[in-house]
Amino acid sequence: MSLPVLQVIIGSTRPGRIGPSIAKWVAEQAENHGGFHVEIVDLTEVGLPLYDEPNHPRLGDYAHEHTKRWSEIVRRGDAFVMVCPEYNHGINAALKNALDFLYHEWQRKAVGFVSYGGVSAGTRAVQQLKQVATALRMVPIVESVYLPFPHAHLSESGEFQPGKAAELAASAMLDETQAWTEATAAMRKG
Ligand SMILES: Cc1cc2nc3c(=O)[nH]c(=O)nc-3n(C[C@H](O)[C@H](O)[C@H](O)COP(=O)(O)O)c2cc1C
Repeated sequence: MSLPVLQVIIGSTRPGRIGPSIAKWVAEQAENHGGFHVEIVDLTEVGLPLYDEPNHPRLGDYAHEHTKRWSEIVRRGDAFVMVCPEYNHGINAALKNALDFLYHEWQRKAVGFVSYGGVSAGTRAVQQLKQVATALRMVPIVESVYLPFPHAHLSESGEFQPGKAAELAASAMLDETQAWTEATAAMRKG
């Protein structure tokens, strides 16, 4: 049986961002976990403009090629991990924008969160993201990975190495994501 596809979404898009280093670490944790086929999805490469569809995403009637491409990518995912910074005590705009573009492609799929920032470690962004995920009929996973001051864990070569506690948190988040992915599989087929 083929493994479910887990997409690790890099939420930040600014030049010089730390998001890709953290996403690489998340993808490694997911590969080691063994329950998923893992893909990294970089919103910078997806290249969406500010939301510009004339119709509500529920209709799935997309006017633009960039939305159709984004729809195809997300449709392929069975579950997601959002790697999200916290900007001004909330969700960063690029990630919220990417979420708003689609509807059916997200629903009935589990979503785990890996957040980072200062002392708050992105917790406020995750709380907001859980609310948005619920509106999209996703299954937000309670077990999140919160990473305070992530730049302190970058090696000289730019590898993110946050240590054992973060690995354990990732393992718990991935176990629960896997459980909900299995539990909702029949709903996605229907
Ligand atoms: C516009 C902006 C707003 C920020 N607001 C917060 C914040 O509210 N809380 C926080 O912990 N860090 C905040 N930061 C610091 C980020 O946690 C830090 O820059 C982090 O590296 C951002 O992720 P990125 O490098 O992947 O973009 C902010 C950074 C930016 C650029």
